[in-house]
Amino acid sequence: MVGSKVKDSTDGARRDVLVAPPVEVAAAHATDDDFDALESVISVRGLDFFYGKEQALFDNDVDIKRNRVTAIIGPSGCGKSTHIRTYNRIYELYRDHRATGEIVFDGKNILVPGTDVLDLRRRMGMIFQKPSPFPMSVFDNVAYGLRQHYKLSRSELADRVEDALRRSALWDEVKHKLGEPGIALSGGQQQRLCIARCIATEPDVVLMDEPASAIDPVATAKIEELMESLKKNYTIVIVTHNMQQAARVSDYTAFFYEGRIVEFGPTTQIFSNPREKQTEDYITGRFS
Ligand SMILES: Nc1ncnc2c1ncn2[C@@H]1O[C@H](COP(=O)(O)OP(=O)(O)OP(=O)(O)O)[C@@H](O)[C@H]1O
Ligand SMILES: [Mg+2]
Repeated sequence: MVGSKVKDSTDGARRDVLVAPPVEVAAAHATDDDFDALESVISVRGLDFFYGKEQALFDNDVDIKRNRVTAIIGPSGCGKSTHIRTYNRIYELYRDHRATGEIVFDGKNILVPGTDVLDLRRRMGMIFQKPSPFPMSVFDNVAYGLRQHYKLSRSELADRVEDALRRSALWDEVKHKLGEPGIALSGGQQQRLCIARCIATEPDVVLMDEPASAIDPVATAKIEELMESLKKNYTIVIVTHNMQQAARVSDYTAFFYEGRIVEFGPTTQIFSNPREKQTEDYITGRFS
């Protein structure tokens, strides 16, 4: 973000204000989409979330479209992570955390009792901010979910592991060290290993919570490239602090503020012509 002189609307004087350079939106975005005609993989309606008595999400509505990348942006503490953690009910691992409303996935509200949560978590894979390989070999990291969910012969398993590593743009870098510990890889490689582990079991949706914030710019560029190829087969939801990244990788963007979705729309529109003043203030860096 750069500082530049702009006219203050209150007294007309020019003074330094933090204003972000215009965020470039990649030409490859799905600008020609007919949003309503696209299939919604997830439809969120009236979602509220509570940490004990504290409410963190208020009446969230959003549609996540198949084979598209949806970015979730907004200031720290606005509820981005809380929101995506409802999609696979991972919050339930903690007592006192509660979601109400509807998250319709594959025609069913997954918030109701009786949902097969194990299956839900396979279908909604999650990538975290800090790369988190399991304490086992590169091969076993990717094979882990495959062994849990499918009965495969040795050679089928090896083929599936290789395929997932290839699709995560990691195969060439690790094919000679499949037996080495996953945590011995570089940070960027570890994150791609986690992506391979996630897609090996063929989820419908890949949820990413700031997947590139703990790795260097070259590794980040690789993850961003990877997202472009992954969206052919998967639906991706990415939380990011980095607005340039949101503009580069996503087709749709939701701007969150204080637990509410202030604005949701095509990324091109959100970054070039936001409807809400709060969105504009945030994307231009004029946020207090
Ligand atoms: N385990 C928890 N217990 C209680 N409150 C929590 C917990 N986790 C988050 N919160 C609160 O919920 C709100 C939303 O937090 P959340 O982590 O979803 O924000 P975020 O947008 O992901 O922020 P960041 O950009 O910093 O990751 C915040 O007010 C936060 O303090
Ligand atoms: Mg977060």
